[in-house]
Amino acid sequence: MTFQDEYKQKHITAEEAAAKVENYSTIVAAMAASEPPALLRALANRGPELQGVRVCTCLLMRNYDFMEEDMAGHILNESWFFGPWERKAFQNRTVTHLPNNLHEAGIKKAEKDSVDFFWGTATPMNQEGYFSLSLGVTYEKTMIQKASFTVLEINENLPWTHGDTRVHISEVDGIVENDEELVEMPPAEPSAAEERIGEHIANLVQDGATIQLGIGGIPNAIAQNLKDKKDLGVHTEMFTDGMVDLVEAGVITGEQKTLWPGKMVGTFALGTRRLYNFIHNNPSIEFQQGHVTNDPCVIGKNNGMVSINTALQVDLTGQVVSEWLEGQQFSGTGGQADTHRGAQRASGGLGIIALRSTAKKGKISTITSQHPAGAQITLGRQDVDVVVTEHGVAFLKGMSVRERVKRLIAIAHPDFRERLKWEADKFLLW
Ligand code: COA
Repeated sequence: MTFQDEYKQKHITAEEAAAKVENYSTIVAAMAASEPPALLRALANRGPELQGVRVCTCLLMRNYDFMEEDMAGHILNESWFFGPWERKAFQNRTVTHLPNNLHEAGIKKAEKDSVDFFWGTATPMNQEGYFSLSLGVTYEKTMIQKASFTVLEINENLPWTHGDTRVHISEVDGIVENDEELVEMPPAEPSAAEERIGEHIANLVQDGATIQLGIGGIPNAIAQNLKDKKDLGVHTEMFTDGMVDLVEAGVITGEQKTLWPGKMVGTFALGTRRLYNFIHNNPSIEFQQGHVTNDPCVIGKNNGMVSINTALQVDLTGQVVSEWLEGQQFSGTGGQADTHRGAQRASGGLGIIALRSTAKKGKISTITSQHPAGAQITLGRQDVDVVVTEHGVAFLKGMSVRERVKRLIAIAHPDFRERLKWEADKFLLW
């Protein structure tokens, strides 16, 4: 049988794939821009007749009916990372968070839980019977190994990417075709405060450094501010549009990288069509599985590694909250702890947490004396290295709580500094 015959034999509709799901089945779906929309919609359509099904996802890009209120008890979305849709559905009791460090997400799920189905997306098959998993291999390959039944949703809009992305037709049980447009996430225009943060961080990044840029609005401002640097490299979790700007500006060359020299390394891509065109068939882009890119020991092999992530709130002892807001899950740990810790293992490495000093149009200080009850800590104070706001840089590693309080108040918004000093007294922080 040729690979084309095998493809035809395995070709099914999304409805046929969803019909295989039974009560109490567990499905893992590929993450973010790699999510399989036809399969997830077909699952939602079957929702009312199913009981106790778990669908494990990560940063859904579309709203699916299986998160509606009337799906409680039928389908539960176990989410590694909340985006707008999961946040919106949280009150419906159809979504629960799955805490993890990204480098362990797939491996630990496979080790500790049952997985009946893996549903992913991939490019059309080549002559040798291979697909490319395209926009992400964070946990997807591990799940193909683990699941009893793997279905790939083939989309001709997906870029063919290099690295550890290939899957052979023989590893796949079902093929669904769906050429719908990919969801894009355009970078936001940086605010004045974010520009200032970008400038502070640019002063911390040396020529020849290897960078990781996290998710959120601030990383884009940072990329814009790195345009005068020379020979930067990338070892990241997420490929972004800002990195394309830096390649085109001749800033990212990877020439001084100590691990995968000359290559930009990451595990998933999320951005616009421009990014997806850039990574298509681009041999300088190396996708590696999340348990490789995000292993702190691997990250630490990049001399001069600088990890740059964003947070929502930091308390005066240095505890970082990046995933919890106003009493509920906001996003997830993702690779924040992996990359922040990994960078600090590197020779000359730096872990940076960046945040605007205020939120809600200046009414709230994001530097607080204490986090609210129930807030989930993303980075412990023992792990935190450097915190940056538009008001400056606080180096916290190696510093006592008393010293941290001083340094963090100095980068808080001036309107809140007196109040923070008063609270630091009250809680005996200094
Ligand atoms: N109190 C109240 N509201 C706050 C707040 C606070 N302390 N901090 C932020 N907000 C509000 C903002 O004003 C904004 O509201 P708006 O949408 O009405 O403008 C909203 O919350 C989102 O904040 P913002 O800073 O714009 O979020 P972001 O999209 O830039 O994402 C994180 C920031 C921290 C949520 C995101 O980086 C994250 O999830 N990080 C953890 C994972 C990670 O770092 N992975 C690393 C590798 S990819």
